[in-house]
Amino acid sequence: MVNAMKRVLVFDSGVGGLSVLDAIAASGHALELDYVADNAWLPYGLKSDAELRGRVPALLARLSEQWAPDAVVVACNTASTIALDAVRAALAIPVVGVVPPIKPAAALTRTGVIGLLATPATVRRAYTNDLIQQFAPDKRVVRFGSAALVQAAEQKLRGEPFDPAALSEAMEGLFGVPGGADIDVIALACTHFPLLAQELAAAAPRPVVWLDSGEAIARRVAHVLIAEHGAPRMRRAGFTDANAAKSVFGAFDARGFATFAQIGGAPVFDAAPIADSASA
Ligand code: DGL
Repeated sequence: MVNAMKRVLVFDSGVGGLSVLDAIAASGHALELDYVADNAWLPYGLKSDAELRGRVPALLARLSEQWAPDAVVVACNTASTIALDAVRAALAIPVVGVVPPIKPAAALTRTGVIGLLATPATVRRAYTNDLIQQFAPDKRVVRFGSAALVQAAEQKLRGEPFDPAALSEAMEGLFGVPGGADIDVIALACTHFPLLAQELAAAAPRPVVWLDSGEAIARRVAHVLIAEHGAPRMRRAGFTDANAAKSVFGAFDARGFATFAQIGGAPVFDAAPIADSASA
């Protein structure tokens, strides 16, 4: 008898978690992948800590009941850095979070100056301070928080043009501040940002090493689930704002999702099929 594929629920505020889903899919494991975007609440980077701690664990607990994953990936630095402990407490299955890649950045920098690009919430988190203190105490970390880049990534995946000022402001906020000229590694600590990898590299004043957490998360998921090698299968994608989601269905279609669901409002978060898609 063939074992059932292990199922993973990848979660983000919007399309950013697709950068993590892509890394999981590319890792070549026989996993069934579900995706949930809390796009009614996008962007998380401008929400308060209390709001996110109040919502994310409840949403993921309810979705886990309905969709029965074997593991959940909180593919959002902004949610992970404030609510990972609460999500773990709310679920009885493994929860993998995304943390800013400070440790690999510290190992790679030669100048000792690291750029940290994240959401406004993540750059100011105690969690981020602790990571820097633990893994990069002797490095200079130049931080820049951008909600505009989150918006730009969403627009890119909708196939819309976006304001290039989002890119130039971020580059100015990193390279243009005291010490910034020596940055040689940039840690992308928002899962939306790898979706803009080419645009960011083109906007940088010179070549640097860009780091994100996608591959590390993919390895962690495969390890935690003892996943077998094979082809991944996309199952369903759910959204808390189904109307807004329609503009990004193309990005999900392109990755092999054919079934879309509407996730109802708090505190119930009931999943229901979206018309025009197969049963959810
Ligand atoms: N993709 C998310 C992250 O990794 C957050 C984007 C947002 O909603 O602000 O931080």
